[in-house]
Amino acid sequence: MKKSRITGVGHYVPDQIITNEYLSTIIDTNNEWIIERTGIEERRWFTPGKDTVTSMSLAASTLAIKRAGIANKDIDFIVFATITPDYFVPGNGVLLQRELGIQGVPALDVRNACSGFIYALSVADQFIKTGMYKTILVVGAEIQSSALDKSDAGRSSAVIFADGAGAAILQAVDQDQPGILSSHLHADGDFAEELYLKDPGSSREVRLSPEIVDNPSFKMYMNGNTVFKHAVVRFNEVILEALEANGKNKAEIDLLVPHQANLRISNYIQQKMGLPDEKVFNNIMKLGNTTAGTIPIALSEAWEQGRLKEGDLVCLAAFGSGFTWASALLTW
Ligand SMILES: CC(C)(COP(=O)(O)OP(=O)(O)OC[C@H]1O[C@@H](n2cnc3c(N)ncnc32)[C@H](O)[C@@H]1OP(=O)(O)O)[C@@H](O)C(=O)NCCC(=O)NCCS
Repeated sequence: MKKSRITGVGHYVPDQIITNEYLSTIIDTNNEWIIERTGIEERRWFTPGKDTVTSMSLAASTLAIKRAGIANKDIDFIVFATITPDYFVPGNGVLLQRELGIQGVPALDVRNACSGFIYALSVADQFIKTGMYKTILVVGAEIQSSALDKSDAGRSSAVIFADGAGAAILQAVDQDQPGILSSHLHADGDFAEELYLKDPGSSREVRLSPEIVDNPSFKMYMNGNTVFKHAVVRFNEVILEALEANGKNKAEIDLLVPHQANLRISNYIQQKMGLPDEKVFNNIMKLGNTTAGTIPIALSEAWEQGRLKEGDLVCLAAFGSGFTWASALLTW
């Protein structure tokens, strides 16, 4: 049986920087509150008419493809994680496939919010292990800023979520090579409405009406407190699950890449794991929470900064809407 290895990573973030100072001019918030509660100093929001989920993911994928030393035509499957596709239907995978000029290659969309990239990576890993595909493009990309409630009522999520795209090339390698050791996926639908975007849902007589457009149900809702409390427990559990499954201990982790939900959550996990700063990758300070984009963007930045070396033990972990949570342990 083959193993899968990440052979190239890339990312793209929009050039529009949204500072905390700017946010405090449109909603009742302030720089001190945002930094103290979330660690976020600034984030990127897309420029309408310039950036799309497709254009951002194309830029990220093109970089990942180049860094993997392959060509577009070598890709034999696309797994695309997003909850903010350019169209309601079809999914974003086919739009990226068209731009890559690889018509005919299958494309699958994954809608698991902040856990989306790890779910997508896990799906891709299974296809490589069975031998069905050899080279898979796994993407996480979002435009969240257009679905945020930028009124005072939505301020707890409006300051957190942001836009961006990341991509990874996953390739089949022999068992003795570095690569994905295991992935661990979980969900609990009891908490679906604690972090959700209700409309435009399909179970209404009219999917889109002026009432729905004027209603906060058209914007992201988050019960920040509940999300926080579950996140700290689940992150911890799912990281330990990955370590245990592979007979590894916390101290063996070379780089932990947690989903960038909130710097306080990352710091709490770091403390629970007893890891020094250099073994935990955080970029939420500059990029906010880009949902499914977060982990591949972080991997690409970590790689660029020389923080991912061949053979390093890397742990990815995420938690988000659903609730869903997931981890993956791999050697780089
Ligand atoms: C959203 C979050 C930062 C809020 O922080 P918190 O410490 O839980 O704050 P609370 O919601 O209890 O609110 C505390 C106060 O700050 C206020 N507040 C909320 N958002 C604010 C903002 N952007 N600016 C200023 N004040 C704000 C609240 O209204 C509340 O005021 P009150 O005490 O007068 O009622 C925090 O709950 C969080 O990070 N949750 C997890 C979010 C997350 O990870 N989401 C992504 C999942 S993938």
